[in-house]
Amino acid sequence: MADNSIRTELFLPIKLGNISLANRIVMAPLTRSRVNEEGVPNEINVTYYVQRASAGLIISEATNISAQGRGYVMTPGIWTEQQVNGWRKVTDAVHAAGGKIVVQLWHVGRCSHIDIQPGGECPVAPSAIKADCNVYTYIGPQEASMPRALKTDEIPGIIEQYRHAAECAKQAGFDGVEIHSANNYLLEQFLRDSTNHRTDQYGGSIENRARLILEVVEAVTQVWNADQVGIRLSPTTPEVGNSPLDSNVMATYGYLIQQLNKFKLAYLHFVEGATGKNRTIPEGIDLDALRSLFDGPYIGNNNYDLEMAISRHAEGKIDAVAFGRPFISNPDLVERLRYGIELAEVNNDAYYGNGEKGYTDWPKANDF
Ligand SMILES: Cc1cc2nc3c(=O)[nH]c(=O)nc-3n(C[C@H](O)[C@H](O)[C@H](O)COP(=O)(O)O)c2cc1C
Repeated sequence: MADNSIRTELFLPIKLGNISLANRIVMAPLTRSRVNEEGVPNEINVTYYVQRASAGLIISEATNISAQGRGYVMTPGIWTEQQVNGWRKVTDAVHAAGGKIVVQLWHVGRCSHIDIQPGGECPVAPSAIKADCNVYTYIGPQEASMPRALKTDEIPGIIEQYRHAAECAKQAGFDGVEIHSANNYLLEQFLRDSTNHRTDQYGGSIENRARLILEVVEAVTQVWNADQVGIRLSPTTPEVGNSPLDSNVMATYGYLIQQLNKFKLAYLHFVEGATGKNRTIPEGIDLDALRSLFDGPYIGNNNYDLEMAISRHAEGKIDAVAFGRPFISNPDLVERLRYGIELAEVNNDAYYGNGEKGYTDWPKANDF
């Protein structure tokens, strides 16, 4: 029978650092809110990830590194033994299905609510500036609470949360970790001058605002080899919390990326544009130029289709592509793209909560 598959290097293996991928189609991190109150992954999470194991790499849904780091109920964690055991079932099953999976390490910072913070305390942030967003609490969406600024002597405790979560990720059998430094959660809140008004060594200059991210990378790479650690950044997104961009995106992110080079990480992952919305880049910002400052492999994301991925890959602008929403409704996305099979459209109702419905019930195409 003639092989009518689409020819592109995107379907060929690649190594991101020391993580070997069967193809260059990556599943983007997707919060799906199907986890219990304790943040322990369960059987339907196992099924969901196994269904998508033909991705070259699965980046897990954002996973809380601590109770304080949590902003959304029903999201998983990676700081307790039960959570580690729950994730172990996911990683074992994904590996048995031939896939690779890294965990996205998440601290939401100011995007949280007193109702879900330990002891009903305020969420923490670089500065006491409220996020303009809803977060998900036990009684449904509520406006994010006013955060309090972290004291300088609390920062080592934040870094320790990342280190501990990285340890737990190792015990849970992941192939590596992705440091979530995107979408204006804690780490990006520190980086941007719009959300960081500190006057200590973690605020003010670019070097100071990048300091926490680099200290987190340092801590995580003491647990994992750096070539199993990736990082996600989103220099031009207002998501989440309607956060203004940094006043000098090129200088700030350029500095950060050059510092990251020292670690020789597995990959850099950008959300290009406004997360899940558009690929519009404000004037004066050139994401390809920023990306090219990075010495290692690069994953591009945001509103890609296969055609755009092929052309940007051919131009040398991406090494791999991450798809988010298409992976929700097409568990066999790689096969569908490879054989030109029509994609199922995702509906927003399926995104969060609701058990198996809209989660594990998307059929695979069988006609190739
Ligand atoms: C339901 C949903 C959940 C998401 N959860 C996360 C997340 O946990 N971590 C993250 O970094 N991005 C998250 N994102 C953003 C996606 O990873 C991705 O950047 C975005 O959907 C754009 O890619 P796409 O056009 O291929 O969908 C989420 C997006 C959606 C639609």
